[in-house]
Amino acid sequence: MKIGIIVGTRPEIIKMAPVIRECQKRSIPFFIIHSNQHYSEEMDSIFFDELELPAPNYNLGVGSGLHSNQTGNILIKMEPILVEEKPDIVLVQGDTNTVLAGALAASKLNIKVGHIEAGLRSYDRMMPEETNRILTDHMSEFLFAVGPNQEQILDKEGISADKIHTVGNTVSDSLFQHLEIAADKSQILDDLSLTENDYFLVTAHRASNVDIPAHLKELLVLFERLHEKYEQPIVWPIHPRTQAKLTEFGITIPSYLKLSPPIGYLDFIQLQQNAQLILTDSGGIQEEACLLGVPCITLRENTERPESIEVGANVLVGRDADKALAAADKWLNTEGSVSWANPFGDGHVAKRIVDICLGDKATASNEQAE
Ligand code: UD1
Ligand code: UDP
Repeated sequence: MKIGIIVGTRPEIIKMAPVIRECQKRSIPFFIIHSNQHYSEEMDSIFFDELELPAPNYNLGVGSGLHSNQTGNILIKMEPILVEEKPDIVLVQGDTNTVLAGALAASKLNIKVGHIEAGLRSYDRMMPEETNRILTDHMSEFLFAVGPNQEQILDKEGISADKIHTVGNTVSDSLFQHLEIAADKSQILDDLSLTENDYFLVTAHRASNVDIPAHLKELLVLFERLHEKYEQPIVWPIHPRTQAKLTEFGITIPSYLKLSPPIGYLDFIQLQQNAQLILTDSGGIQEEACLLGVPCITLRENTERPESIEVGANVLVGRDADKALAAADKWLNTEGSVSWANPFGDGHVAKRIVDICLGDKATASNEQAE
């Protein structure tokens, strides 16, 4: 059994890390292909260092580009590596262009694809990630669903039940493995002059929010209204896409917004777990906020992660400041601590994924012997 592991962006590195560690622990032969869709030190190598991951065996160096260009470059560069390495399974995680290209390259070579975080749907085809998710699921032999919602979605789309494995989300493995280390090591609250439970944390990088000047300005109005009402510092580790758009549109940032470059995982966990409120359009941060017991206001009209809304941890507000204030009022005026059930996994998800990959290989060998 040989596993090919594909990563390309910040969230893929973080959520694939537990699977990589599980392969190392069990001495399973594996290799890592990094598309380098993310390449800036603070979006890429910082996570390999902090999560103590081996360097990728192959770095495709594709960088940024238009969607087809980026996806096509990954495909072209991935194919000869897969031909040479001949993995039994290729694992991809999430919904990025790297995931789609990795799954397609493997699938064209009749290599089995395992899709981690399968079955998520926003039902918003304007999101490039929605196309990536749907196509990847339908090319995969192993669909590692997070929970029953995803299982049902995949079933409705006609994917046979024997391909679907409901395992939880590896975001829980990564988070639980690093919570204590983050609390021990991170100095981020002091560095940013923040007090525990006395600031709001913001992230935004979706094309629908940041690529259109009017939309980006609406977000700033929303933040301003929150600041006027609560007078809290708002911390914003800014995604390079968003920084590039602020510069391109000539938008200046008011001083109550504490902007920083993207920060490392340990510091970011520490910032999340001590925030009073998180506002985000990120997928992974909706999950982490829910796991950490911090209320989340999602700056989108839809989400492929409805579970955190169902358990009462998350509210969708789009860019509507009134809705955001109403959600903040509700949470911040709640007496005592807020709590909810955890729908995103128990921290042992990678082990299940690797078990299932190995199980299939055993079955395949038996079938070949017959
Ligand atoms: C990508 C994924 C998105 C994921 C996000 C995680 C797709 C279609 N999008 O979005 O699903 O949520 O990663 O963060 O795959 N840039 C840098 N340095 C970097 C990377 C990007 O400066 O290391 C800048 C470039 O200006 C680039 C822009 O960010 O053009 C966007 O990068 P890209 O990877 O295309 O998309 P993301 O918005 O990061
Ligand atoms: N993250 C981080 N530093 C930051 C912002 C986010 O380490 O400055 C981590 C966060 O903890 C989560 C992941 O990056 O695990 C989410 O990535 P992102 O929001 O870029 O992508 P998405 O989840 O939306 O695809």
